[in-house]
Amino acid sequence: MTRTPVTVTVTGAAGQIGYALLFRIASGHLLGADVPVRLRLLEIPQAVKAAEGTAMELDDCAFPLLSGIDIFDDAVRAFEGTNVALLVGARPRTKGMERGDLLEANGGIFKPQGEAINAGAADDVKVLVVGNPANTNALIAQQHAPDVPAERFTAMTRLDHNRALAQLSKKAGASVADIRRMTIWGNHSATQYPDLFHAEIAGRNAAETVNDQGWLENEFIPTVAKRGAAIIEARGASSAASAASAAIDHVHTWVNGTADGDWTSMAVVSDGSYGVPEGLISSFPVTTADGEWEIVQGLEIDDFSRARIDASVAELSEEREAVRKLGLI
Ligand code: NAD
Ligand code: LMR
Repeated sequence: MTRTPVTVTVTGAAGQIGYALLFRIASGHLLGADVPVRLRLLEIPQAVKAAEGTAMELDDCAFPLLSGIDIFDDAVRAFEGTNVALLVGARPRTKGMERGDLLEANGGIFKPQGEAINAGAADDVKVLVVGNPANTNALIAQQHAPDVPAERFTAMTRLDHNRALAQLSKKAGASVADIRRMTIWGNHSATQYPDLFHAEIAGRNAAETVNDQGWLENEFIPTVAKRGAAIIEARGASSAASAASAAIDHVHTWVNGTADGDWTSMAVVSDGSYGVPEGLISSFPVTTADGEWEIVQGLEIDDFSRARIDASVAELSEEREAVRKLGLI
């Protein structure tokens, strides 16, 4: 039986991440090897021609799962009937900037996109915000989509999660596949808290296995939290292929579920769990099943972790205040 295609809208389709992302969506990595997709691409008018070029290349790949591509410079049309919305289009930071410095430049993009999702997306729409500052941009979009359940708006910390897996695997000489229960807490920013106290390597507590508090505090946490800046320093441009790969992982896990006994990191709307003020879009350990996520409950948070979670969440509260002042929510 032929399945009905899933409609996926990608904003910023002509950008760096867009170029790394679209081919993986069209080849089945986002939703599954048996799920046809229809792409709707949104760009600003000046970049529509470049998006058309990318669409020509997508055609030239002859992907069996790609059932059509439409390109728009109008958000309302781009989100019509969309099941999965990947909000990538936004300015990246450059050397010396923090992601929060982009709030004023990028925040304005997410209000009309939230409204357009509210107006025309499919009932089951799932939204992933990648454009920075991702958590607060997701909050802006969510606040302008009152008819869409708030839990459908998420922001990406899966790249930070994957970075943490990679750093831990190198330190422990273990395979990434042996690591479970990694958590990124808080904001996708330099204040984020990658937590090894609940992570496991081959079933054993990761912090105990590594047994090196100096490395954990002075190397692991800052390396993961500042990796975006290190990539910009080395590449002269912000991460693109790894960001696209993390976006694929985020949606794939949301739709297809976490493995038994494992969890992932997603920035989702807080219900007050772990003292994170209700309504903030903050990263938590989450399990997913049947296309729904749930925050993992009952983890013990010691003073070391508490202070770091609180600092990152305080930054999210400040960003919320800043966008209130800008009239964006
Ligand atoms: P880029 O500059 O290469 O591409 C951005 C694209 O967005 C451009 O083609 C631009 O024309 C388009 N765009 C701008 N405004 C738009 C709008 N209103 N509607 C539709 N499209 C619009 O940037 P990039 O490297 O692809 O990065 C995109 C964003 O993703 C940046 O904000 C970057 O900081 C962020 N990012 C986030 C993560 C994360 O982990 N959350 C990781 C990497 C990058
Ligand atoms: C990243 O984490 O690589 C992105 O958010 C880009 C950036 O500005 O760091």
